Amino acid sequence: MSYTLTTPLYYANDRAHLGSTYTTLACDAIARHRRLRGERVTFITGCDEHGQKIQRTAEAAGFSPQAHCDAVSEGYRALWSRWQISHDRFIRTSDPRHRLLVEQFFARVEASGDVLEGRQQGWYCVACEEFKDDPHESEDPECPIHRRPLEWRDELNLFFRLSRYQQAIEELIRRPGFITPASRRREVENFVAQGLRDFSISRVDLPWGIPVPGHAGHTFYVWFDALLGYLTALLEPDEPVLLDTILQRGWPAQLHVIGKDILRFHAVYWPAMLLSAGLPLPERVFGHGFLTREGQKMGKSLGNVLDPELLLERCGRDAVRWYLLRDIPFGDDGDFQQQRFTDLVNSDLANTIGNLLNRTSSMARKWFAAAVPPAGAGGDDRHPLAQAANQAAEAVNGGLEGLDFRAAAEAILQLANTANGYLNDQAPWKAMKQPAQEAAVAADLYAVLEASRWLAVLLAPLLPELSARMLAQLGQEPFNSSGHGEQQPSDWVVALRWGVLASGAPLPDPEPVMQRLELDAPL
Ligand code: MSP
Repeated sequence: MSYTLTTPLYYANDRAHLGSTYTTLACDAIARHRRLRGERVTFITGCDEHGQKIQRTAEAAGFSPQAHCDAVSEGYRALWSRWQISHDRFIRTSDPRHRLLVEQFFARVEASGDVLEGRQQGWYCVACEEFKDDPHESEDPECPIHRRPLEWRDELNLFFRLSRYQQAIEELIRRPGFITPASRRREVENFVAQGLRDFSISRVDLPWGIPVPGHAGHTFYVWFDALLGYLTALLEPDEPVLLDTILQRGWPAQLHVIGKDILRFHAVYWPAMLLSAGLPLPERVFGHGFLTREGQKMGKSLGNVLDPELLLERCGRDAVRWYLLRDIPFGDDGDFQQQRFTDLVNSDLANTIGNLLNRTSSMARKWFAAAVPPAGAGGDDRHPLAQAANQAAEAVNGGLEGLDFRAAAEAILQLANTANGYLNDQAPWKAMKQPAQEAAVAADLYAVLEASRWLAVLLAPLLPELSARMLAQLGQEPFNSSGHGEQQPSDWVVALRWGVLASGAPLPDPEPVMQRLELDAPL
């Protein structure tokens, strides 16, 4: 089975910010989970490099658009590598191979009779690269998202006959699960109900774009070309560019993850373009919310942008991934709060999960010759912790399949809390004072160590590094969910069986698996 998922292709006008990092981390967790479950995954990310916004940014910086995009996209690549993002493809829409694919796609759309000439008049936001339907009646309308003046446009453009797909799109968006979460689906339904209007797919006098074949002076509207990047990305790097090949390379995608501001492009324009070209439609579009910081929109003018490089350097990957995925319901807007961030990381990861493993393995080492104690009743899959572990695994799998990261993280925490509670109730440190209790203590410690191993296994898609450190403390191999390397994907599924820890196997010297976060200054 093959699973194709995508992040948006990020504009190469500026460096990555926390919003793009958030989407990419979430997709990474999904990709890792699918791989661990044995699916063949194609995880696509990349840069959207054409259009007026990028041309202007490059010119203002004194670079050619190409040189500017080379530098910015290299920055994205380097950042994702530092975050250990496990993408399989990184597409740049200025790649000459992409141009070939766009030309073939356009030829199909034109052959379907869906390209018309028309006059485009309206208010345009260069930052959104979008015409705004209904700016206020003021003389100097602003973009509601960017708070920057809109620009008046009056051009003869090529239009895509979106109006022809009204019924098909209405049916599509009614399909359960196509647009999630439900609140986002309603937004799109309202938009479609107003009646779909043809939209312009070319610009005149915009040199930084792909020329439209047969229409001198026109370049493709950046969104028309950008969405097609998802298709080009699927081709093998050295195979001929033939549109239909994508059908053997993982198209249709199972999932597009995007922010709520670009939902219309993905849930309406994109499917209509694909229908016109006779290509199958993606299965699911998930529109997540926006991140704010301490209650305020992040922006350069406010000087409160959270730099993903700095966050990584000062806090580490596990901490940030945990906070963003565990605390913010995926789909809702979320607020980055530094105090809450440190509190959650310290209490969940350092205390509840990290200390559980640390103190249990210390006791086991001290009383049972630095090895996993004899399992006894602790190895029985009817043990209460075994049952709790199975429930947690079910909830983690269900949560991640449903893109409910919070539910997955909470299930993991619940198992850790249950195991901590069990250890406190059994109080092996008291029981150990009575020699007759040694077997019972061994069984209890075994069960808690085994529960800790399950915690590490279940954390693998969300926090691969913490998972690996925990497994190392238990004398186990880490999971490889990166999509490269030797490990059999089924190893993960096999690991979710009670009793895998071998009694008598040596336990390494305990070391804290999660450093506490101590941030004395604002990030
Ligand atoms: N280039 C287009 C996408 C083309 S896809 C074929 C684009 N790029 S972007 O770089 O501006 O935005 C990328 C993503 O970042 C969008 O999904 C957007 O929703 C998301 N975010 C931008 N600011 C954000 C926050 N403050 N919080 C969360 N996500 C945010 O749009």
